[in-house]
Amino acid sequence: TPDTTTDPSVEAYTVVAEQTSGYDFGLRKKDGSEFIDPATGTPIRTTVWGYTTNGIQAGYLGATIEARSTLDGPTGKPVQVTYINNLKDGSGNLLAKHLLTVDPTLEGADNGEPEVRIVTHLHGGHVLPEFDGHPEAWITNNPNYAGAPATATEPARPAGNKVTYTYKNDQVANHLWYHDHAMGITRLNVYAGLAANYLLRDSVEDNLNLPKGAYEIPLVIQDKSFNQDGSLHYDANPLLKPDGTPYLDAAGNPVNSSNPEFFGNVITVNGKAWPLLNVEPRKYRFRVLNGSDSRFYNMWLERSDGGAIPAGAITQIGNDGGLMPDSVPVGDSADNGLLLALAERADLIIDFSKFPAGTSITIRNDAPTPFPGGSDVDPATTGRVMQFKISKPLAGPDTSDPIPANPRSLIPLDVATKTRFLNLQETEQDDFLVYDAITGSFSKRLKILINGLLFDDPITENPKIDSVEDWVIINDTEDAHPMHIHLVHFEVLEKGSVVPGTFDAQNAPFAPVGLLPNTNPDPTQPSSAYTLQPNERGRKDTVRVPPAQGSGLTRSQGYVKIRAKFDILGTYMWHCHILAHEDNAMMRPFTVIQ
Ligand code: C2O
Ligand code: CU
Repeated sequence: TPDTTTDPSVEAYTVVAEQTSGYDFGLRKKDGSEFIDPATGTPIRTTVWGYTTNGIQAGYLGATIEARSTLDGPTGKPVQVTYINNLKDGSGNLLAKHLLTVDPTLEGADNGEPEVRIVTHLHGGHVLPEFDGHPEAWITNNPNYAGAPATATEPARPAGNKVTYTYKNDQVANHLWYHDHAMGITRLNVYAGLAANYLLRDSVEDNLNLPKGAYEIPLVIQDKSFNQDGSLHYDANPLLKPDGTPYLDAAGNPVNSSNPEFFGNVITVNGKAWPLLNVEPRKYRFRVLNGSDSRFYNMWLERSDGGAIPAGAITQIGNDGGLMPDSVPVGDSADNGLLLALAERADLIIDFSKFPAGTSITIRNDAPTPFPGGSDVDPATTGRVMQFKISKPLAGPDTSDPIPANPRSLIPLDVATKTRFLNLQETEQDDFLVYDAITGSFSKRLKILINGLLFDDPITENPKIDSVEDWVIINDTEDAHPMHIHLVHFEVLEKGSVVPGTFDAQNAPFAPVGLLPNTNPDPTQPSSAYTLQPNERGRKDTVRVPPAQGSGLTRSQGYVKIRAKFDILGTYMWHCHILAHEDNAMMRPFTVIQ
């Protein structure tokens, strides 16, 4: 429920970032008993951060904001959110230290910035740049903080501990989400819990008469690890100098850091470990979000009775651009898994009436870490997401309409007036050795660059206002990267690989290269790792860029070609949504110009 005490032309919300101790992620032993903290003899609980939205205290994550599109006329209103940083300890003192270990050598955390800073981005929002949550326009938890004026490279920093943003909602129905975006610590703030759903509705969605109310459920999937006392574990190992001695911060203290990728061993959904949802034998609508740090999920339904998944039992009707032009049967087997990279969403209808009453159904996952060439999941733990049990009687007839075959028709964007070639590449940082949990050894820290440039280098992407551009994003690294562009929802035109041996990724600028659409260079991997999939049609705001293969004359980069219209002036971000990559310089600003 919005707080309507202010301007009646907007829906006003107050979203407060708070720390909560004693949060229960629901981790239990196989026999259902509690894990006990050996030091205190009490059940383990966790201190987390989360949003309190209009007084609804979530503890971890935050309440869902529901809004209506203003494209439909007066039923829709802009949403105005006042974000407040109220991160305090149990005695009410302002926190000076982060809940997790800050690495002061990362861009944005390297200049004595206060550790407890937040800035919120509405992911997928079509918003003015001043309300987009620029990663350096953070707020502290100090109500008396003086703020700072804009500089040549940084936006003005708000004074105090609050800021008010307006979201115009002039876009189609979609599953957006609001999450933290503070430079250099985004991965830590989101891992601590600063993320929540924002469901935007419109008349096209209404007319589909989809399952609603108790039968529409957001599922935010995140992997976590816990220390023995129940506290959140995020990798923090000594950072070493090239000679193997500890790297020291300005005050002479050793610096701990994470590898630029993090994988937890517990899968949580909506802040609960491997939860069970008791369901009725009818259709449900699940709004699925991968809100993890680095983990991709390739998900499918598996019946505990070993039976087959009936046709039509699971259908995807939308992605991160909202409702899709064609719905897609997905998730009925590992081979036809629903692949979700970081920040990607899926709007799913699962029809539990197609199964015998009493059936238990597990959402399985087999996406390697990192994706696609990394380690296999453990089928008993990270290979499982959650379970449904068709245990409830039907509360009433299912009055939702049949699953739509064509949820939303979309007018294609105009032909592009400019094509840009952009390049993702990995190099190494000579100054740091970092511990890699996968190899169990220290090695040079990765430096993941966009176009060979760092965040602070001059802006190179300057689309003209209202122009349509094609961006060919070429990936010279071994991993798939989910690239997210703020402001726009783009069409994914093409995926594939570059003609082997023709593209010199290390030497910018890049000449146009031969592109081989729809090639799957590694037949041992699912095609969803490499080629354009039916559930990437329509619009998207985050897209997986396939990885590179081979070396030398057989080296072939993966690429994606997208088309977007840039229709608001100003500076926005585009970046990899592997949060640990984003914090390790895989982010660039772009500016829409007159
Ligand atoms: Cu979901 Cu720039 O982020
Ligand atoms: Cu990445």
